[in-house]
Amino acid sequence: MTVLGWRWPLAAVRSPQAKPAAPARKLPTPPVRVGLLGCGTVGTGVVRLLRANAQSIADKVGRPVEIARVLVRSPERRRDAELPEGLLTADPGAVLDASDIQVVVEVMGGVDPALGYIVRALRTGKSVVTANKDVMAEYGREVFAAAERGHADIFFEASVGGGIPIIRSLKESLAGNRIRRIAGILNGTTNFILSRMSRDGCSFEDALVEAQRLGYAEADPSSDVDGWDAARKLAILSSIAYMARLRPGDVERQGIAAVTARDIGHGERMGWALKLLAISEVDGGRVSMRVHPTFVPRQHPLAHVNDAFNAIYVQGDAIGEAMFYGRGAGSLPTASAVVGDLIDAARFIDRGGKGLTCTCFYRVKRLPPGLVASRFYVRLMAADRPGVLAQIAGALGRCGVNIESVVQTPAAAYQPEEPSDELERAELVLVTHRVAEGRMRRSLELLRRLQAVSRVAAAIRIAPEDL
Ligand SMILES: NC(=O)c1ccc[n+]([C@@H]2O[C@H](COP(=O)([O-])OP(=O)(O)OC[C@H]3O[C@@H](n4cnc5c(N)ncnc54)[C@H](OP(=O)(O)O)[C@@H]3O)[C@@H](O)[C@H]2O)c1
Repeated sequence: MTVLGWRWPLAAVRSPQAKPAAPARKLPTPPVRVGLLGCGTVGTGVVRLLRANAQSIADKVGRPVEIARVLVRSPERRRDAELPEGLLTADPGAVLDASDIQVVVEVMGGVDPALGYIVRALRTGKSVVTANKDVMAEYGREVFAAAERGHADIFFEASVGGGIPIIRSLKESLAGNRIRRIAGILNGTTNFILSRMSRDGCSFEDALVEAQRLGYAEADPSSDVDGWDAARKLAILSSIAYMARLRPGDVERQGIAAVTARDIGHGERMGWALKLLAISEVDGGRVSMRVHPTFVPRQHPLAHVNDAFNAIYVQGDAIGEAMFYGRGAGSLPTASAVVGDLIDAARFIDRGGKGLTCTCFYRVKRLPPGLVASRFYVRLMAADRPGVLAQIAGALGRCGVNIESVVQTPAAAYQPEEPSDELERAELVLVTHRVAEGRMRRSLELLRRLQAVSRVAAAIRIAPEDL
């Protein structure tokens, strides 16, 4: 049998449990020819999946799908993907200018030169499937404009949530809703680190080393741990949800490097799990977008999303709530989204149809970050003597911060985290009522100036009550 332009034994392309109800139809030729830009983690998965499920993919498209050329930096390097001889090239023109290639799959990553290649392919009428969040978050407008100009289709399901079908769900299945809020665990690396710290009580640094050893975290983990990766994905989802061009730079961002196992432990005793949440919401016609460590009530489904898994919780006026859960990265899970897009792109060539179109029709006002309101968990180191609590309550009260609860660990029972901590200090954990971020910041400044307070060890937001 010949599919994808080279021969495989039938057993290799049919899953053992899936017996076709009827003999496979004889498919018309020629195949849809695909140019792959990149053959790393995701590209290899795409090659594998196209090969493993070649027959069912060909049945869905109406003809075989064939990889015609693969652009890489180093064509001489050995690849995990089984590719026929001569497909690898370091010449972008061999893919982008090839008149026999109809669909380009961009899985190189980064903005330059990926953006230029995507735009060039679209303008010359080739449909493009991309997994590139950097490009789609910052240059969505340019990409859609190029697709319009070339009468070509653009698909980008894998750019957010890896294998989780969220882009199409927001663009199509949930299109009848007005989306009120999106709250997502959009970065598997940070979720793995926080899960590890929560389960084993280890430090952020040790959990990060473990994540790097297992290949979840890059050698330079800043894009993940500082919240940039989640911010880019949130900007893409929010642009679709609120029909306005929203950029990663519009997202308020706080990473997880300052999180301690001690705070996670306190939170757990209070009934919460700590997650790096990416939240965007509409409040009085204004949009706020933020990524920060957040305490989520244990009974909420997002609290149970652990390790490298991702989840996106969507609240809309008709659907109520819907949660999308799955693997946010990895070779085959991401390839699952890329190949799904590729099937649509290939099918539309013969049967007509349109890829994803730009729906950023509106301008939206942003809610100034200082006005975004949350409940806060605050941990302080303070002197263990009479009157200190009153001073702290007074400082908070002057900024309009209302205390919901206080738990004090007295000096005798308190185990200092750092050798420099003096034993007469007590640890205070306060939970505030809902308060605007700006007021909270000012009150923390006042607390830091109090002589009786040696340190504000943590200030962590608590998820909105109506999440
Ligand atoms: N990895 C995931 O789990 C995941 C999940 C969701 C989305 N994504 C997105 O998918 C994309 C690819 O990620 P990846 O993890 O597969 O990356 P990767 O493993 O680093 O692979 C990148 C591939 O692109 C090629 N490449 C890079 N720059 C090139 C250039 N200037 N010219 C020619 N070839 C070039 C590389 O060639 P060589 O092999 O010769 O170096 C390599 O084959 C990124 O946009 C990423 O954000 C990845």
